[in-house]
Amino acid sequence: MDTKELEKYTSKITVRNMENEDVEVVNYSPLTMMGKGRQGAVFQYSDDICIKIFGNEEDCEREHYALSLGQQTDLFPKVYAKGPLYIAMEIIRGVDLREYLQSQPLTEELSMKLIDLLVTFKEIGYERIDHHKRQIFILPEGNLKVIDVARTVWRDRVYPYPRKLLTSLGKENKEIFLSHVQALHPELYSEWTHYIEMEEQARQICQKIMTESTDKETLKNKSKKLLTTNEQKIYTGQLESLVHKVFKEEWVKAMLVQGYDPDKVMDTIEQHMEKLTSKETLKEKESKNTDTEKTEEDVKSKNKNNKEEKYSDKDGFLGYRNKGRISENDRYYGFRNERYSEYPIKEKENKNKNYGRKGKKNRR
Ligand SMILES: Nc1ncnc2c1ncn2[C@@H]1O[C@H](COP(=O)(O)OP(=O)(O)OP(=O)(O)O)[C@@H](O)[C@H]1O
Ligand SMILES: [Mg+2]
Repeated sequence: MDTKELEKYTSKITVRNMENEDVEVVNYSPLTMMGKGRQGAVFQYSDDICIKIFGNEEDCEREHYALSLGQQTDLFPKVYAKGPLYIAMEIIRGVDLREYLQSQPLTEELSMKLIDLLVTFKEIGYERIDHHKRQIFILPEGNLKVIDVARTVWRDRVYPYPRKLLTSLGKENKEIFLSHVQALHPELYSEWTHYIEMEEQARQICQKIMTESTDKETLKNKSKKLLTTNEQKIYTGQLESLVHKVFKEEWVKAMLVQGYDPDKVMDTIEQHMEKLTSKETLKEKESKNTDTEKTEEDVKSKNKNNKEEKYSDKDGFLGYRNKGRISENDRYYGFRNERYSEYPIKEKENKNKNYGRKGKKNRR
């Protein structure tokens, strides 16, 4: 074939790939365009030969490779020449399956030809044993030919059944085709229907997973309620408690190492803290109400009274629970002792009653 003439024409045609659209074509050659798609445009070169011009070299290589695999069969157009961006091939004359089925029934004979086509795909080494009905042509003699085969090779993942062909047939013809497959080869039929079911299940699982991630989004919004830094007053209180707790823990630990009685240390800290709190409360009250004349002593004595009132319970205050009884473990983690050290034992207390940390409500 005279490739010089071919190249003279192809140099006058520019094909550009577009995103999710058919290629864009600028044609200064005398050739007539027969059709185009996402990868290239096809021009009539002679009565029997067309030239497919590609938007990029990789697509051209890929289609040429796929066509070359099938040259020994009579299913594909014959290839006459190739350039970096074009393939000259046989013109396929006939009607494509999409058009054909609009007016004709899917007979068992046609289904057999389609199954045979898939077998040929497998035999020649295509990775995707599948094709869209618009790329399958029925020739006047009744045999099939396929075009646009680039996507049958160099693939990572493919469906394990001819999904594209089945879905492109449409609901009714898909059922008819599958019934023909079932009659011909029940095992092949159950394999394909198995994959179809698996695919449906995979879809449902996928939808479930996607709904769950929406739930996560809802929880993310709800969990904002746990935030404490956005309100200055709450944040200050939380921070103060935190520092207070750490200080107490560290102080008790340090004093324990030096051999001090942890209870005494705790009491001293508590008293100190209460003093500080009283000072602050007093200051607050003074700034709020300058008319009320209250001294620090008043507040101190009130706190003392409150404490005594709370513990010198008329119905049976006997002292502090477990005071002085510290396990080795508690001694090490001195702070744990706080649980036992300061809540009153009552004579008639319910043993199951959970005093726990609540027994020390006044602590922060
Ligand atoms: N060998 C051929 N003989 C006759 N017509 C052809 C031939 N090859 C392609 N055509 C016509 O050109 C059109 C575009 O070709 P083709 O489908 O190969 O392009 P494509 O860009 O690879 O398509 P896709 O976007 O599906 O990949 C076809 O629909 C068909 O009408
Ligand atoms: Mg293509």
